[in-house]
Amino acid sequence: MKINSLLAGVAFMATSLAAYAQDNTVTVQTKKIGAEIQPTMYGIFFEDINFGADGGLYAELVKNRSFEFSPDHYMGWDMFGKVELRNDGPFEKNPHYVRLSCAGHGDMWTGIQNEGFFGIGLKKDAEYRFSVWARVPDGNAVTLMVQFIDQNTMDDNQQFVSQDLVIDSKEWKKYTMVMKSNRTIAKANLRIFLSNPQHRSGTGTVDLEHVSLFPVDTWMGHENGMRKDLVQALYDMRPGVFRFPGGCIVEGSNLETRYQWKNTVGPVENRPLNKNRWESTFINRYYPDYFQSYGLGFYEYFLLSEEIGAEPLPVLNVGMACQYQNWNNEKAHAECSAEGLKEYIDDALDLIEFANGPADSEWGKVRAEMGHPEPFGMKYLAIGNEQWDKFYFDRLKFFVEAVRKAHPEILIIGSSGPDSEGEMFDLGWEDMKKQKVDLVDEHFYRPVDWFKNSMNRYDDYDRNGPKVFAGEYACHDHGNRMKWNHAGASIYEAAFMTTLERNADIVHMATYAPLFAHVEGWQWRPDLIWFDNLNSVKSVSYYVQQMYARNMGTNVVPATLATPTPKGEDGLFTSAVYDKNTEEYIVKVINTTEQPKTVDIVLDGLKQVKGNAATLTLDCSDYTLDNTLENPDAIVPQEGWTKVEGNTIKTTIDGKNFVVFKVKK
Ligand code: AHR
Repeated sequence: MKINSLLAGVAFMATSLAAYAQDNTVTVQTKKIGAEIQPTMYGIFFEDINFGADGGLYAELVKNRSFEFSPDHYMGWDMFGKVELRNDGPFEKNPHYVRLSCAGHGDMWTGIQNEGFFGIGLKKDAEYRFSVWARVPDGNAVTLMVQFIDQNTMDDNQQFVSQDLVIDSKEWKKYTMVMKSNRTIAKANLRIFLSNPQHRSGTGTVDLEHVSLFPVDTWMGHENGMRKDLVQALYDMRPGVFRFPGGCIVEGSNLETRYQWKNTVGPVENRPLNKNRWESTFINRYYPDYFQSYGLGFYEYFLLSEEIGAEPLPVLNVGMACQYQNWNNEKAHAECSAEGLKEYIDDALDLIEFANGPADSEWGKVRAEMGHPEPFGMKYLAIGNEQWDKFYFDRLKFFVEAVRKAHPEILIIGSSGPDSEGEMFDLGWEDMKKQKVDLVDEHFYRPVDWFKNSMNRYDDYDRNGPKVFAGEYACHDHGNRMKWNHAGASIYEAAFMTTLERNADIVHMATYAPLFAHVEGWQWRPDLIWFDNLNSVKSVSYYVQQMYARNMGTNVVPATLATPTPKGEDGLFTSAVYDKNTEEYIVKVINTTEQPKTVDIVLDGLKQVKGNAATLTLDCSDYTLDNTLENPDAIVPQEGWTKVEGNTIKTTIDGKNFVVFKVKK
């Protein structure tokens, strides 16, 4: 017992002495204005995972609007009375529609009802645009009664809004009307009755196709638009680059279900439906109703990039389905043949034309007809998502050759595979260097310990090879069995990002992943932004990204700790930048320990700083906490200031805090 307490005492003294010996001075060499920080440095990665597109960012409220879900063409719909599924509709690539006829009895109604994505979210006094392609095959006009209903109410009326729409054309035609909701409800349904009186006596038939309901108030008011709150959250991050459409979704589980951009442009009604590979990737999070309507396609993507001020960075399939899922499968499902590769390469060249070609070129014309005659000015193209080994390298080289020849102005991004290091990763980098791609995409969803060991990851990277695109990353707190969003993981992302910033000469882009998740429909977490049918919430990790992106400066300046934190340990981490436009120095300091640290930030080279230092602090000390829909502002950056004495910012950084300091030159 005595020996134990003696040992404990010695240990305590040693710890105290070590703490005493630690010098927490951060020296910022203000006169050494270093590498330029690329405007693309902090960006966003979008993938249709977690109902990120249909049911999420894409504001369509009707699920299976074209009756193309398969094998169940009525998925998401309830049918009553006399409804028949037909397949000779007006849209070649989505041929199914429904025919509604009278039910043949005075008290039996015919109609259809849609459940939306986990319900239909409607807001009081907001307007919604209902539209439908329809015809009356016998030429006799019918009236549709279109209703917002609350199926769960025990009030007299399930419908709380009901509007008539007359269908009178024998030919297929689009009918539209605006409906205003008189209540806020997260889980409404859309019900459509065939309602004119004569249908009860045996007449009245109507065909319905592409039944759609959008909020009128979408981002920028686009009719085929995006959810405003979600785009606003992206815009508020000030993303420099926008990667799309994934992720594994680019690859597909097999080549048939891969993402094909050409299927995502032109009239929305004729964009063929595809299965979403996240429908069945995880048996513990299985979503049989997860499909891709492609309503959010490549045109909408380029437009959105432009509107939020981010460089578009499309990722295309290299001629291989997901390597994970097909490792032992028949090759035919996993890799296209050498002859087949031409189609994929053409897709890449045609995408460049779609984005940048003149309005009278084949694909430029498609873009122009969709409403954007001016080129989008795409600069980057990634080929292959998480690809590795010879299969990939052998295919990629044909793309590189073709793109370089036709479009030397395009910067090509290759993959280093799914691992953050190791044999495959090294092999990947080696080959990317040989192929002289411009950037290499790295992915790391890693535990806390990995992050602690990687705080200097890019310090020793080869300065002569391709640049780095940290294309998918997040701290997954496996060690604590907490692989979900919480502040305790976000603080390590903040600390890790100092190595991105310090090495901005070679790290040109970084995008956290995944971006979006529906609280009722997720397959993967943590994620950056969560939402339900009415509201959204920014995670603590979101604010980490935002604090970097909004304070990225224009140039790196050296910032060093007098006692650097040893590899693998908790401690202080720092990086600094200068902003030529505002003439400010911006210093980021992260304390990953649980104790407060007294820190002096010496702005070496400046004599006297004007005024105080502005601060922005993210307090992650409540380790298990994150922002939620119920409590969206639990942990948000707090503005403040701290004293500067001469050229030194004197401050204390609390445990698990991330602080951004700003001073005027
Ligand atoms: O972000 C989720 C998935 O993680 C991506 O689709 C894939 O690229 C990675 O494995």
